Amino acid sequence: MNTRQDMILSPSLLSSDFSRLADELAALEAAGLKWVHWDVMDGAFVPNITFGPPVIRACRRNSGLFFDVHLMIENPGRFVGEFARAGADLICVHAEAETHLERTVSLIRTCGAKAAVALNPHTPLDVVEYLLPQLDMVLVMSVNPGFGGQSFIPFCVDKVRHLRAMIDACGSQALIQVDGGVALANTRELTLAGADVLVSGSAFFSQPPYAERLRLFQAAAAGQEPAA
Ligand code: DX5
Ligand code: ZN
Repeated sequence: MNTRQDMILSPSLLSSDFSRLADELAALEAAGLKWVHWDVMDGAFVPNITFGPPVIRACRRNSGLFFDVHLMIENPGRFVGEFARAGADLICVHAEAETHLERTVSLIRTCGAKAAVALNPHTPLDVVEYLLPQLDMVLVMSVNPGFGGQSFIPFCVDKVRHLRAMIDACGSQALIQVDGGVALANTRELTLAGADVLVSGSAFFSQPPYAERLRLFQAAAAGQEPAA
């Protein structure tokens, strides 16, 4: 297995206070977070609607965080350029939403962003097998996308383990991200299975201060008892 860096925590803004987005981003940065997760929903691929490029563009002006943009939208290739210009550092598209996945992954890279593919819980890993060398990340959804606060689907731990083996076998540098129902209780299990990036919405934002939440997640990922 590769020697990998420490777990990266990417808080999902879906559970933040939308009326104070700029303040939330500043608070995350001040607390030591490096990544932030944007859940973009179109009301078609998922039964919910959130925000799009104008909101990301406005927030980009005052934030140095790595913008991890998860597109839960149909035919995402149509909007890749716009999200890249808005300031997305990484663009993640769903395999289930895109017929020509290789073309869209190439387009993301051409636009200068990191490229990722998300898989719904039931979607087999084979879908990304041939794309692994050109991917920066694979997102394993551990809930059915659309809403925060859902329960983690347990078989996703095995899925992460299998994906880790596939990535290591082909020498890809792709990170593994897990999104949905992530909490302190399953953090260690997920990092042991091979996850590099954990998204947390409700379990992160519901219990400030954020610096302390980050510390607890990092301790859990490393298998340490958090210092009192
Ligand atoms: C679900 C989103 C997730 C979600 C995570 O559609 O992709 O990012 O907000 O939220 P929690 O951690 O509450 O499951
Ligand atoms: Zn997400």
